[in-house]
Amino acid sequence: MKHKEIIIRYEEYEDVESLLVEDSKLIDEANEAVKGSYAPYSEFHVGAALKLDNGMVIRGSNQENSAYPSGLCAERVALFHAKSTYPDASVIAIAVTCRTEHFVNLDPVAPCGSCRQVIAETEKRQSDRIRIIMTGDGAVTKIVDGIDNLLPMKFQEEKLKKINR
Ligand code: THU
Repeated sequence: MKHKEIIIRYEEYEDVESLLVEDSKLIDEANEAVKGSYAPYSEFHVGAALKLDNGMVIRGSNQENSAYPSGLCAERVALFHAKSTYPDASVIAIAVTCRTEHFVNLDPVAPCGSCRQVIAETEKRQSDRIRIIMTGDGAVTKIVDGIDNLLPMKFQEEKLKKINR
């Protein structure tokens, strides 16, 4: 038996002034996206914005449903819209933010497991890492360069390849 470890890396920004202009602009887009959130059940409003390599910015927000599992997170709304509309475009970065009146969100909103898996698939399709910018209401901003920092040991399609015997 061997003990092994995986290290993940992220940047943390305590004030918006220290962010790169590009990141700050995408956060502004995510803040606009939150306005389209439909979250009457959780009252946790999430907005996401994607920057594509064709220059487009795609917004998404969480869309809930009275049959809870039928709702979808902001990140996947944005990612599926982007890849449906521009299948050949690469996603350079995604910014995610949240709004809620019930508590101060000291930690930035971090994509859920399913969204992480979809981000991983998007990276695989484009063979390029995605910059993931996580922020929130009054929260610090955390940034990772690539999904491996959020989803180490991820499930990969290679595991599904059939072996010709
Ligand atoms: N949610 C997102 O949209 N993105 C995340 O990264 C975390 C959670 C949504 C799903 C649901 O509508 C609400 O937030 C509460 O979980």
